[in-house]
Amino acid sequence: MRSTQARNCSMQLTPNHPLKNLNTFGIDCTAKWFAAFHNTDELMELLDNPEVQNQPQLVLGGGSNILFTQPFNGVVLKNSLLGIEVVGETDDHYLVKAAAGENWHQFVMHCIKNQFAGVENLALIPGCVGASPMQNIGAYGVEIKDVFHELDAVHIREKKIKTFDVTECSFGYRESVFKQREKNQWIITSVTFRLNKNPRLKTGYGAIEEELDRMNLDQITIKDVAKAVIQIRSSKLPDPAVLGNAGSFFKNPVVPIETYEKIKSHYPGAPSYPISETAVKVPAGWLIEQAGWKGLKRITHGVHDKQALVLVNLGNARGAEILQLSSDIIDDIQHKFDITLEREVNIY
Ligand code: EPU
Repeated sequence: MRSTQARNCSMQLTPNHPLKNLNTFGIDCTAKWFAAFHNTDELMELLDNPEVQNQPQLVLGGGSNILFTQPFNGVVLKNSLLGIEVVGETDDHYLVKAAAGENWHQFVMHCIKNQFAGVENLALIPGCVGASPMQNIGAYGVEIKDVFHELDAVHIREKKIKTFDVTECSFGYRESVFKQREKNQWIITSVTFRLNKNPRLKTGYGAIEEELDRMNLDQITIKDVAKAVIQIRSSKLPDPAVLGNAGSFFKNPVVPIETYEKIKSHYPGAPSYPISETAVKVPAGWLIEQAGWKGLKRITHGVHDKQALVLVNLGNARGAEILQLSSDIIDDIQHKFDITLEREVNIY
């Protein structure tokens, strides 16, 4: 695995470090202390430091699923571990191990270039490889759990390294053990994916098929699927480099069929995805749009005008303002639809 040489110098903590360029919302705030680690030796050295041990720690990857509402009063550790390699192979699969600090989209592009199939539907998702299993990222009919083999993580207090298999990760919709029981206990250092030699394309998600039809191809490859996904995403999701955001701010709620039937009696075209005999998932973006929030602007921040599930920093927004907007939306959806929206983004 490509990795920076272990450094002899001892790891320095930088005081009062700016975080504006380290969170995709572009919130201007600081960390009391900051350090970046480029290999596991550096990480272990940092974890040995009493200054790190005795304060709250926050590990940042791409900073694409976080909203800072105040200065971080502890140590921010930036995961800068790099490297991608094939660590195993069967007749049907490659096992591809990626270091946690690798940019997710670049990893997807690397897979496409090398004909490793399975992650093409997940193109253009902001963030790092290490965060992908944390919230079981998903889009266009594919989730990380579908291609996950195992991950390595370091326990922050005990400094032991453990390999987690798919069962131990307890993946759910935008959920894993690392957001629940083991929250803030582990630093993910690498993720190994089981990728197909013979692509099994998943184009069933409506918008992908339409986009592929438009491309008018004789034979569809994983590269074409990624191209279609990139086209769809860029048409409705704002580029964080241009307009600060953290992707979907809320999860799509799972509600009892009766609640959905009540909505449908007023809105016959209300979308839903079946979950079980008694429950359906309702797109939060649809609920927020129906409630009149889509495109709303509050000077520094607002609701994206092409996808109501995304809150945006229009310029110099404070995290607390965006949090307040999200609370107002939650209250309104509760009042209008009797549905409790849950935030997907981590609030700090
Ligand atoms: N919709 C509206 N108005 C809106 C947004 C959506 O009516 O403003 C409706 C759409 O017309 C459609 C339905 O809601 O009928 C679903 O919309 P979309 O396909 O855009 O997907 P989503 O459910 O809003 C989820 C993920 C996205 C992922 C897309 C595509 C969550 C929380 N979000 O959004 O993930 O890209 O599906 O698979 O599950 C992310 O997690 O950051 C993210 C962007």
